Amino acid sequence: MFERFEVINPDAILMLLAAYRADPDPRKVDLGIGVYKDERGATPVLESVRRAERELIDAQATKSYVGAAGNLDFNREMEQLVFGAAHAALGSGRLKSVQTPGGCGALRLGAELIRRAAPETIVYVSTPTWANHPPLIAGSGLKLEYYPYFDPATGGVQFSAMMGALERLPPRAVVLLHASCHNPTGADLSQQEWRALLELVKRRSLVPFLDMAYQGLGEGVEEDAFAVRLFCAELPEVLVAVSCSKNFGVYRERTGVLHVLNDSAKAADATLSQLVRLARGIWSMPPDHGAEIVRLILGDAPHRELWARELGAMRERIQTLRRAAVAELRRACPQRDFSFIGRQRGMFSFLGISTEQVRALRSEHHVYMTDDSRVNIAGLREENLPYFARAVAQVI
Ligand SMILES: Cc1ncc(COP(=O)(O)O)c(C=O)c1O
Repeated sequence: MFERFEVINPDAILMLLAAYRADPDPRKVDLGIGVYKDERGATPVLESVRRAERELIDAQATKSYVGAAGNLDFNREMEQLVFGAAHAALGSGRLKSVQTPGGCGALRLGAELIRRAAPETIVYVSTPTWANHPPLIAGSGLKLEYYPYFDPATGGVQFSAMMGALERLPPRAVVLLHASCHNPTGADLSQQEWRALLELVKRRSLVPFLDMAYQGLGEGVEEDAFAVRLFCAELPEVLVAVSCSKNFGVYRERTGVLHVLNDSAKAADATLSQLVRLARGIWSMPPDHGAEIVRLILGDAPHRELWARELGAMRERIQTLRRAAVAELRRACPQRDFSFIGRQRGMFSFLGISTEQVRALRSEHHVYMTDDSRVNIAGLREENLPYFARAVAQVI
């Protein structure tokens, strides 16, 4: 059966990581894989997570199944975190939530739900988008197309081109949007732009599918949820895929949730039954460990306060590094404008240099980033910033 298989190259990002690990040079800098790193270059377990995990281990009475919708108390806590406790969607009966294995699980489950409702649906994603969006969405059998998004000339969003393209979509086309901290570019819409986009989505009867993988790592927990809250207050149907991997640092625990807003409470009940059936056919039941940790943190005031402080420290470190990178790059290469890095949000930025220049950074200076020049800002450190900036100056 498998005789005809050919070896597929591993993900570019995984190859990059392997090359970084194999590089013996002490000056090496890893700006590749998208995990948060502290000033020592480590991705530690948060103290709030450790405390909740200890409690979990002491108190857990059973390892029996949790059910296809996952940990229901986790789902409720996530609704409050994502929407805010006072959001109209919460008490409306129109919102249904299913725990998923990570944000990836939520994206895939959402795509499967759309396929079941309307198999001909096309999902439109930004140019560029996160490399795992196409396989997750198209893997469900839905067609994928692209809308204009990033403007390399400004490091911002090509908003009028984006609006122009979305204006031409047929009703009920699905538009995948990064709620905040756009991956891979770091370029987000302003609140005013989100409002204009909402009007277009309403007018054209489009269905937004919001992907929120970085709540709290851009401007703040509330600020980063602006688009989700706005869209779900004003539209009949919205899907929201949420990941706890980055903001709780529970990457390998595979913790996420899919929220689906429906036109009516009756439709919501039917949607939930479909979601549960779909989940049964894919992973059957999601893993509980990470979800229970997140539930314990969000449901306990001291844990939650500690988590908010730890998340705030991660966010501030990223913002500080962004400002410092702009200053160092200005010093090392005054002929080129990198100020957009300071205007962007979240863990990633595109440096906007060529593939040859990226490869020269790797081979000559031991600085590792993906070929499209995406940089994980959290991979930088105060002490290696001047080295990084000088290396960039030498290749451009
Ligand atoms: C844009 C985006 N969406 C979703 C995810 C989902 O992550 P996970 O499945 O690890 O929770 C990520 C992770 O890198 C991401 O960058």
